[in-house]
Amino acid sequence: MIEDINFREATQDDLPEITAIFRDTIRAVNSKDYSEKQIEVWSSGADKIKTWQDRIKKFYFLVAEIDQQIVGFSYLKNGNYLDGLFVHKDFQRQTIASKLLRIMESRVSMNGFDTIKSDVSITALPFFDSHFYEVEKKQKKSLKGLVFENYIVYKDL
Ligand SMILES: CC(C)(COP(=O)(O)OP(=O)(O)OC[C@H]1O[C@@H](n2cnc3c(N)ncnc32)[C@H](O)[C@@H]1OP(=O)(O)O)[C@@H](O)C(=O)NCCC(=O)NCCS
Repeated sequence: MIEDINFREATQDDLPEITAIFRDTIRAVNSKDYSEKQIEVWSSGADKIKTWQDRIKKFYFLVAEIDQQIVGFSYLKNGNYLDGLFVHKDFQRQTIASKLLRIMESRVSMNGFDTIKSDVSITALPFFDSHFYEVEKKQKKSLKGLVFENYIVYKDL
């Protein structure tokens, strides 16, 4: 059970830790649901430094920390669109994502929306299901010529 967990907004200095979590979690956790090629292409998104700098600058971007180590992150786009939620591969199933999601849902309400939306991986669907998200549709997304299946989900707050 985790005790001293802290949440704060990300800064540009966090970029190396955030992109490392993105890369390593996809390779270690999402790899059970996607092909080797898909994992390679998806995790290489960690190298798009400018994209990550912009996300930290423009979005509501939170990190979760334990003993000053970043163990998860999430960011919200356009007020009510949860665009990313990743937990460090060595800290899975310790309620970190649930805690991040709760903060994001409160933020969405504070932003004046009554629905939160996201598109989520096959891997993350059971997590969102356990938080009472509904599937709007299953979709196919194209990335560097590869097709990825995922789900558009939403929850009325
Ligand atoms: C999905 C993810 C964010 C969940 O993070 P987490 O911190 O491990 O989740 P929590 O510990 O808060 O899980 C809470 C509940 O969600 C459900 N859940 C979470 N992961 C699950 C899994 N792999 N399979 C089934 N149920 C799961 C369970 O009910 C769990 O409660 P329990 O552990 O008491 O059974 C994490 O697995 C992850 O980083 N996945 C890879 C990245 C990803 O696909 N992100 C989604 C955006 S595309």
